[in-house]
Amino acid sequence: MKIAPSLLSCDFSKMGEEIVRMDKAGADWMHLDVMDGHFVPNITFGAPVIKAVRKYTDKPFDVHLMISNPLDYADDFINAGADIITFHIECNSDIDKTIEKIKSANVKVGLVIKPNTPASAVFPYLEKLDLVLIMTVEPGFGGQSFMADMLPKVKEIKDEAKKIGKDIIIEADGGIGESTIAQAAEAGIDICVAGTAVFKAEDAEKAISMLQAY
Ligand code: DX5
Ligand code: ZN
Repeated sequence: MKIAPSLLSCDFSKMGEEIVRMDKAGADWMHLDVMDGHFVPNITFGAPVIKAVRKYTDKPFDVHLMISNPLDYADDFINAGADIITFHIECNSDIDKTIEKIKSANVKVGLVIKPNTPASAVFPYLEKLDLVLIMTVEPGFGGQSFMADMLPKVKEIKDEAKKIGKDIIIEADGGIGESTIAQAAEAGIDICVAGTAVFKAEDAEKAISMLQAY
C-alpha cells in the first residue's frame, strides 16, 4: 500500500520541515488539503503556500481541492507545482472543462466523491481520469472515524474501469490508520491518505512503514 501523509495534521508553523520529516519517514506522496470555507466548513491554505513548500521534497504533490470552483483556480495549483490535482464531482465547475484544463498542463487528474455520492457518478469521466479519490469521511476535518461502508465503491469503480480497458488508481482519504488499513487494502485501494495516524505518531517512519506493509 502506498501512503500519502496529509499535511492538514502537520505543524503549520514549520510546514517545510514537516514535509522533509515525512519525506525522510518514507512517504510516497504528500497530500495537500485545500479548503475554501465554502465547499467545506473549514479553511486551510491555497496555491501560494503550496508553491512556497514545493522545494522541500521531490516526492509527488497530491493536491486535494475541496473548493467550490476548481476550474477558476486550477492554473494556480498547476503553477504551484502540483503533480496530481483532485477535485470534487460535487463542485460547481464544469467537470469536463476542469479535467481538460488539468490534463493539458500534463498534471495527473482525479475526481473525488463524498460519502453520499455513488461510485457510478464518476463512470462518465473514467476514460479521462488518472485517479479516483473515495472519501471515507465527510471532507473538512482530520481525525474523523473511517466509514467502512464506502469500501464497496472500490470494486465498482475498478470493474467499470476494466470494462473500458482503463488503468485507474484508487485513493482513499479519511480515518485511515492502524485499525482500518487492513480493510482498505483488502478492498483494493492503491494509495491511502493518512493525517492523524502519521503526524500524531511518536515515530512517523514506523507509522508509515507499518501502513505500507499492507
Ligand atoms: C479531510 C481531508 C483528509 C484528512 C485526513 O477533509 O481530506 O485528507 O486530513 O485526516 P485523517 O487521516 O486524520 O482522517
Ligand atoms: Zn484530503
